[in-house]
Amino acid sequence: MLDMQAKQEQEEVNQLEAARALLDRLQRVADDQEMVLPHAATAHVAIIGLGYVGIPLAVGFASDAPVTGFDISASKIRDLNNGIDSTGEADAVEFAQAKINFTTSADELKNADVLIVCVPTPVNAHNKPDYSPLIAASRLVGEHMKKGAVVVFESTVDPGTTEGKCLPVIERVSGMKEGEDFFLGYSPERINPGDMTRRLPDIKKIVAGSSQMVTDFLEQLYSRVIKAGVHKAPSIKVAEAAKILENTQRDINIALMNQMMMLFDKMGIRSTDVIAAAGSKWNFHHYRPGLVGGHCIAVDPYFLVDAGRRHGLPMELVSAARAVNENTANFMVEKLDQLFELRGQNLSGSRVLVLGRSFKEDCADTRNSKAFKMMDAIWAAGADVDCYDPVAEDDHFEGGRGARMIDDPFSEQPYDAIIMTLRHKVFIEQFPLEAIAGLCKQFGPFIDLRGVYKDEATGDHFTYWRP
Ligand SMILES: NC(=O)c1ccc[n+]([C@@H]2O[C@H](COP(=O)([O-])OP(=O)(O)OC[C@H]3O[C@@H](n4cnc5c(N)ncnc54)[C@H](O)[C@@H]3O)[C@@H](O)[C@H]2O)c1
Repeated sequence: MLDMQAKQEQEEVNQLEAARALLDRLQRVADDQEMVLPHAATAHVAIIGLGYVGIPLAVGFASDAPVTGFDISASKIRDLNNGIDSTGEADAVEFAQAKINFTTSADELKNADVLIVCVPTPVNAHNKPDYSPLIAASRLVGEHMKKGAVVVFESTVDPGTTEGKCLPVIERVSGMKEGEDFFLGYSPERINPGDMTRRLPDIKKIVAGSSQMVTDFLEQLYSRVIKAGVHKAPSIKVAEAAKILENTQRDINIALMNQMMMLFDKMGIRSTDVIAAAGSKWNFHHYRPGLVGGHCIAVDPYFLVDAGRRHGLPMELVSAARAVNENTANFMVEKLDQLFELRGQNLSGSRVLVLGRSFKEDCADTRNSKAFKMMDAIWAAGADVDCYDPVAEDDHFEGGRGARMIDDPFSEQPYDAIIMTLRHKVFIEQFPLEAIAGLCKQFGPFIDLRGVYKDEATGDHFTYWRP
């Protein structure tokens, strides 16, 4: 009797163990199932952040598969849904034809196979990196992405940010694990706003994934949009570093030209003439003096300065270049003051016309434009400042405390002095020498920062200066 009971109990134990083993096996099978990447050719892409970078990208991907365009700015989404691309970066015809679901509803991100983050990476008032838009976007992605999604960051950052700052937020918020539940990648944006000859498809793209498989996927994905080819970087950190190096190299080279301009000017030498002469050698690198503004070249090096500080390596060269470029606006004001003095006149009490306030030629973007810093200083010196720039889009208007933004300089002439900060194509058309001479009192100071007029602008018209 006892034997039978023991046998029965043993059988129950065996059955229970068998059931447990089966469950374990099923669990192992489920665990071992490799996450499958989406199909690159048809993947539904969501772009997060629809600015200068995000809009052309959304338009590019929309040519062959569904695209969701998400932004936190309701007014931006309203404009986009009304067919207005304030950046002007996407091809107008392609933008009009693109079928993009522009939305402020983060819920719609759950439909996307790939989420591409293109949010700003600014610095704060102390020139320290402000990662808050990036962290907010990472949180949003973590809350809404589906299992198996690929998350790609395009924002410019110092190396280590994507994996060290963004990934932990996504994993924490989603409860998912990278490589098991979703995938991570980085692909720096290299567009050149305002340059209509080298647009997004024409610029080679750098991609890097958390594994070779993800990198290969990103190569296929971006090949849908990029015609110039894709460079596969060996790691996300290398891809991050490549972009920030590109922009810092440019900042340093322009700083060298600006510092040379300041020195050569003291020596009575025109630096544009020097550059033309030096540039006759094949290995001279062509950079010109100018006001370095915007939110890339004038910002990204500060991320490296901060990274250097964290790693105990002061980035002296990078910091010095930033300081020179920051100071160039003040140099322009000192130059203007000197030109007034040459005429026995004063900057204070004069009327100055500034032509150009976007941060660079033929680009609508005015963010962090050093023209505003220059105008502020001219105004602070006691002059009235008018600014004309038909290219600039003033959504991001900053500074220019006392400066008036005007639509027609001819109705306000004559001015005591003119500063042309940019070589916008439209300026070349609108202002042949006679036209610009008509805007200014005879022999008034004329600073031609980009050297548009060169020897045309004789002493008959202006007290002329170019670098
Ligand atoms: N503009 C350029 O020329 C350029 C070139 C290369 C790289 N980049 C880099 O690309 C990034 C984006 O630059 P941009 O010029 O397109 O910026 P942008 O300011 O033009 O656009 C960013 C967009 O992101 C939106 N946004 C901000 N926080 C958000 C959030 N949490 N969620 C969703 N949307 C959010 C903003 O409303 C805005 O529409 C930056 O890191 C920049 O350095 C810019």
